Amino acid sequence: MFLSRLIYIFTIFIVEIVVAKNGSSQHFPENFLFGVSSSAYQIEGGWDSDGKGPSIWDEFTHLHPEKIVDRQNGDVGANSYEYYLDDVEAVKSLNMNFYRFSISWTRILPTGDLTQVNEKGIEYYNKIINKLIEYKIEPMVTMYHFDLPAHLQLLGGFANSAIVQYFEEYANLLFNRFGDRVKYWITINEAAEFCVKGYGGKIHAPGINAHGKGEYLCVHNALKSHAVAYHLYKREYYNQYKGQVGIALDSSFFYSDSNDTVVVNREMQFTLGWIAHPIFSSDGDYPAVMIDRIANHSKAEGRLVSRLPTFSNHWKRTIQGTSDFFGLNYYTSRYIRESLEPIGENPSVARDRGNERFTKPEWIKGASDWLYSVPKGLGDLLRWIKAEYNNPEVIITENGWSDDDRLEDDSRVTYFHDHLEQVLDVILNNGCNVKAFSVWSLVDNFEWSQGYTEKFGMFFVNMSSPRKERIPKKSAYFMEELIKKRSIPGI
Ligand SMILES: *[C@@H]1O[C@H](CO)[C@@H](O)[C@H](O)[C@H]1NC(C)=O
Ligand SMILES: *[C@@H]1O[C@H](CO)[C@@H](O)[C@H](O)[C@H]1NC(C)=O
Ligand SMILES: *[C@@H]1O[C@H](CO)[C@@H](O)[C@H](O)[C@H]1NC(C)=O
Repeated sequence: MFLSRLIYIFTIFIVEIVVAKNGSSQHFPENFLFGVSSSAYQIEGGWDSDGKGPSIWDEFTHLHPEKIVDRQNGDVGANSYEYYLDDVEAVKSLNMNFYRFSISWTRILPTGDLTQVNEKGIEYYNKIINKLIEYKIEPMVTMYHFDLPAHLQLLGGFANSAIVQYFEEYANLLFNRFGDRVKYWITINEAAEFCVKGYGGKIHAPGINAHGKGEYLCVHNALKSHAVAYHLYKREYYNQYKGQVGIALDSSFFYSDSNDTVVVNREMQFTLGWIAHPIFSSDGDYPAVMIDRIANHSKAEGRLVSRLPTFSNHWKRTIQGTSDFFGLNYYTSRYIRESLEPIGENPSVARDRGNERFTKPEWIKGASDWLYSVPKGLGDLLRWIKAEYNNPEVIITENGWSDDDRLEDDSRVTYFHDHLEQVLDVILNNGCNVKAFSVWSLVDNFEWSQGYTEKFGMFFVNMSSPRKERIPKKSAYFMEELIKKRSIPGI
């Protein structure tokens, strides 16, 4: 009896050691927030329901199914337009502090401008917001997540500076109708991503492929749009509603085998700095290395002006400082080296950067061909942001992992475990001002050009059932436990 008791105690002791090794006894700060993210086109369906107008993703997928690997689209998807309550219940079941979702511009303004306001669309988002509030879940609203009104694309979309005025009017409507309850606003999600792939390339809507020119015009007008929306809120709404307005930027961290800091800095400035420097740096404007290099390349190409547009002093000042938090989407990292040959299309942002990117054989790969798990990259990126932009308040607005279709998503559990370990480390040991972490994504969704072939959800969606049932995966239970304990469970 005594011996078995001793063996029992000893076993518990060993188990505790193992758990302590994998898990963490350290806790997230009391005010740290956990959330989960989604976006309208990727989950809503109801693409033409109740007066919704067409977006560039409706047109892109309908006119060019061959550009989507499984020839699918977001017409129905997880059908959150009908089953949004299932989404809210899923968020609640994990005890999340906030739910980040995006508003479909054309559900509210079918032609993108104020010609017509679709009250049915407003009602849909009111129902989501009110249910979240009832459950004490903070709504965090992304105003633009890739789905531009098709009518505004006819005018050039983000390549035309007219977008700035249309974005301001759209923002005004959102602040006006939802601002009493929404305290976290994200103006634009991943401008570099949709500008490079949609304007500099052809794999995302609108598929302009004006490489070396289109992506620069697009980011330029996205920055202006963001800034006018920010100022509008501060001027007209802040005193009454006291909310926060920010922007979400995507970035990897970059490493060099030879510790070539010049090359690493150039890559960081050409990716994250492109958008972050004008907003968050103490001198504003684009990073000097971008201005110099693109001007130089443009001159060598015989052009009279740089392909990188310039900001007037007025716009530099208008854009600088326009974010109450630094929204960061992090997925993966890369090694880089200076390319000896011209790289990428002529011209293009890849050629202007001039670096080759590569991965390490020991990095574990997800279901997406670009996604390798590099947890340390998140820690290094957060430390870089702290040093570069004077320790801004950071909300990690996305972090996630793709796999094939499975409920036992162990690789996703490992990914969250390892990445949250880095988040805890930079908060406790480096003084990084990270305030929140949001999982990408709530439910399996339409993954842009990859269609439904890659799964990012913590909840499986039964796509073959009309009811689109949501079923929690192992990662959902992992996050639920983490949020309950406020420390990282062992795995
Ligand atoms: C690069 O820096 C790392 C960390 O500072 C160091 O461990 C490594 O030896 C360096 N490599 C070279 C080639 O200098
Ligand atoms: C500008 O281009 C010239 C050649 O056209 C090159 O010699 C010079 O190093 C370049 N400068 C920068 C900053 O890239
Ligand atoms: C999905 O739904 C179909 C049809 O309702 C059903 O036959 C199937 O068992 C469901 N699959 C899962 C994994 O729940």
